[in-house]
Amino acid sequence: MTAPSIQRPRSSLTVGEIAATLPGATAVFRKYGLDFCCKGNIPLVDSARLRGVDLAEIEQALASLDAPAAAMEAPSDTAALIAYIRRRYHDVHRRELPELIKLASKVEKVHADHAKVPRGLADLLERMARELDLHMMKEEVMLFPAMAAAPIGLLAAPIACMRHEHDDHGLLLQRLETITDRFTVPRGACRSWQALYAGACKLADDLMEHIHLENNVLFPRFSQSSVTR
Ligand SMILES: [Fe+2]
Ligand SMILES: [Fe+2]
Repeated sequence: MTAPSIQRPRSSLTVGEIAATLPGATAVFRKYGLDFCCKGNIPLVDSARLRGVDLAEIEQALASLDAPAAAMEAPSDTAALIAYIRRRYHDVHRRELPELIKLASKVEKVHADHAKVPRGLADLLERMARELDLHMMKEEVMLFPAMAAAPIGLLAAPIACMRHEHDDHGLLLQRLETITDRFTVPRGACRSWQALYAGACKLADDLMEHIHLENNVLFPRFSQSSVTR
């Protein structure tokens, strides 16, 4: 992936570029609600304006990450990066989603009369689990093995298809945030409800990081001839 020029002001870089090159930036973007995965191609200045948040505050938070102590979050070697994505995200989604579905079903049933019950959350999580499982299987069975062998440029079509599916996942994430009021647990909520929203928030964080690593770090390595694999 081509590193963004240091001559450009950070606000003109896309959120995807910043997320891919500045360790810790993804946590800042999540805090301010900026979409750095599916909408990673939008410049920071526009992304902040769309979300209605203060650009200067975000830039200050990003500047504080520039300390050399910050470590890269993912391997730079492509084979190691793919193994990392599978282990850290694919396996974790598959492990955690079934439990979240059970918790959501329980909370919806037990608190059916509560004004803030997350109605439809179990169905939404089941849909996410189904679609994610199919998507990850395509990556594991077809795309990732092909990346080990195919010349750069040959994978444009399957990568475009995966990006499209990531956009669909992004829409489901938006619904997840809406149904849970951005994972805000109502006062006096039971332990199950608290655990459900904590788990759903982690799922959202993980899925955004997962999509970001593929859209902004892994896939560009197969669409730019200048990149060394
Ligand atoms: Fe993936
Ligand atoms: Fe993916």
